[in-house]
Amino acid sequence: MSATPGAATWDGPAILVEDVHKAFGEVQALCGVDLVAERGQVLGLLGPNGAGKTTAVKILTTLIEPDRGRALVEGRDVVCSPAAVREIIGLAGQSTAIQEELTGRENLEIMGRLYHLDPATRRRRSSELLERFELADAADRPAKGYSGGMQRRLDLALSLVSRPAVLFLDEPTSGLDPRSRLGMWEVIQELVSMGTTLLLTTQYLEEADELADEIVVVDRGRVIAAGTVQELKNRVGGDVIEFEVVDRQHLTQAAEAVSVLSELRPTVDAEAARVAIRVGASGSASLVETVRRLDALGIRTEDLAVRRPSLDDVFLALTGHGTEEDNGAKLRSRRGRSAGHRA
Ligand SMILES: Nc1ncnc2c1ncn2[C@@H]1O[C@H](COP(=O)(O)OP(=O)(O)OP(=O)(O)O)[C@@H](O)[C@H]1O
Ligand SMILES: [Mg+2]
Repeated sequence: MSATPGAATWDGPAILVEDVHKAFGEVQALCGVDLVAERGQVLGLLGPNGAGKTTAVKILTTLIEPDRGRALVEGRDVVCSPAAVREIIGLAGQSTAIQEELTGRENLEIMGRLYHLDPATRRRRSSELLERFELADAADRPAKGYSGGMQRRLDLALSLVSRPAVLFLDEPTSGLDPRSRLGMWEVIQELVSMGTTLLLTTQYLEEADELADEIVVVDRGRVIAAGTVQELKNRVGGDVIEFEVVDRQHLTQAAEAVSVLSELRPTVDAEAARVAIRVGASGSASLVETVRRLDALGIRTEDLAVRRPSLDDVFLALTGHGTEEDNGAKLRSRRGRSAGHRA
């Protein structure tokens, strides 16, 4: 099998996408997207419903071809050498690859067979993955009886049977409860620590924050921002500390006390007896300092919290529109009390 010339000695990035376009009939799903992921890094592809995330993943995993542009995985061109790309990648897509009638173990074994692993290796890897994803107890039950979280874990396990060098996870935690989400993050972090390059799509800034080295924000088929999570957060002003003063008489004094935490003046909402102050990247440290200062003055507060920018805040800052149009309920339910401080 001939890969892209030079692929064997490729020393470029693990994932390289240049000016990729893809239309589905009238719908322009990708319009000139560029992406780079260095080997061993986690690239987070962030965007609301319909942004083009899955389309990009499908192109990189050879499921569909781009109309224009170039996409390479470890130097292998997805259009010229799709088989060579498939040899080194794993994919846990947005819709599951699980065969529900089969048990977890059978699903894994069949995947091993697809990759031509010998029977002993297949058995060993299946058992290892079942252990690692806490599916050992359920290993011999049909997967259709698994909970959503268990199915997600099995799906991720399936993508790892071949020990891929480059892994694609399309919204790996959507639909998971907070505990399962944390569990999934841990597993993903473990994989990355072993050197896997990962492209991860998500609708949640906090997830990208937790997992990604670099993130690219896409909207309507275009890249609208790229950088580290902190860089993006800084573009929306960073963390905000906010609290309510129990005794209104202390409102001015409270605002004065926290004003040293930032170069920006605190915002005071006299009617709600609330104070908010932007503190850049230092949310946690500033929270401690706020408590200390207000305590020293004997000022009682309620609802004291750091509010970190959400994807919605980033979107608003970058595009002038939120993600609500497409995606309202989901983001709103996760956003909590974010209204009122989008300066
Ligand atoms: N096979 C297809 N046929 C027609 N339109 C498609 C097809 N696949 C994707 N699209 C359209 O392309 C655009 C991008 O879709 P894509 O699935 O890549 O978005 P996404 O960012 O993954 O969204 P989500 O967060 O909902 O998964 C959408 O407008 C979608 O309707
Ligand atoms: Mg998608």
